[in-house]
Amino acid sequence: MKNLVVLISGRGSNLKAIIDAIKDGKIRAKISLVLSNKKDAKGLDIAKENGIKTKFIDPSFFETRRGYDIYIAELIKNENPDLVVLAGYMRILSEEFIDTFEGKIVNIHPSLVPAFQGKDAQKQALEYGSLITGCSVHFVTKELDNGPVIIQAAVPVLPEDTPQSLSERILSFEHRIYPQAIKWILEGRVEVKGRKVLVKGAKYGTIPVNPQLEDF
Ligand code: GRF
Repeated sequence: MKNLVVLISGRGSNLKAIIDAIKDGKIRAKISLVLSNKKDAKGLDIAKENGIKTKFIDPSFFETRRGYDIYIAELIKNENPDLVVLAGYMRILSEEFIDTFEGKIVNIHPSLVPAFQGKDAQKQALEYGSLITGCSVHFVTKELDNGPVIIQAAVPVLPEDTPQSLSERILSFEHRIYPQAIKWILEGRVEVKGRKVLVKGAKYGTIPVNPQLEDF
């Protein structure tokens, strides 16, 4: 049985989407550990409700980010995970951590990477005036929010959008693409060549996201 370790810092809605996909039999795996750097992360409750082991590791006990990451890397290694899944984990990972799990860490970011990296990506897209944004699942490399992209969903920005309404629209797509990407990886269908990712048997093609064109 394939095994996931999920790192969270908050709400845990992506964690929930992954748990649901496992329950539905769409992903054939288990989550052996959900680890949080925040004590009150709602996602910890979601994990517990689903019988998943949780750990809160308090960063304030560590002098450096590196020290924290070395500690959690040991905990994670003990689980022998096939994939380390960042699901709203709001800490930048140290280089050592990324090296330890090289090619085995994935993240979801609420923009079409490489656009709008870092915090508040949805607000950034809105303020920039983008008409299309979205979400991306990517492998984690030492560049923040910018590793090889496995899947993206394009999401329209509407004139009346607020950061919240746009975030909600994007989130509903996050919940679809994250379990999908994890399934592909665990099935061994994902091949990475430099920055490019090829998913065997996945559909590629056009998407109807340009309604403004209909006026022409
Ligand atoms: C999501 O928007 C995700 O893209 C970003 O952090 C948020 C986490 O939300 N990395 P949740 O905790 O999964 O609900």
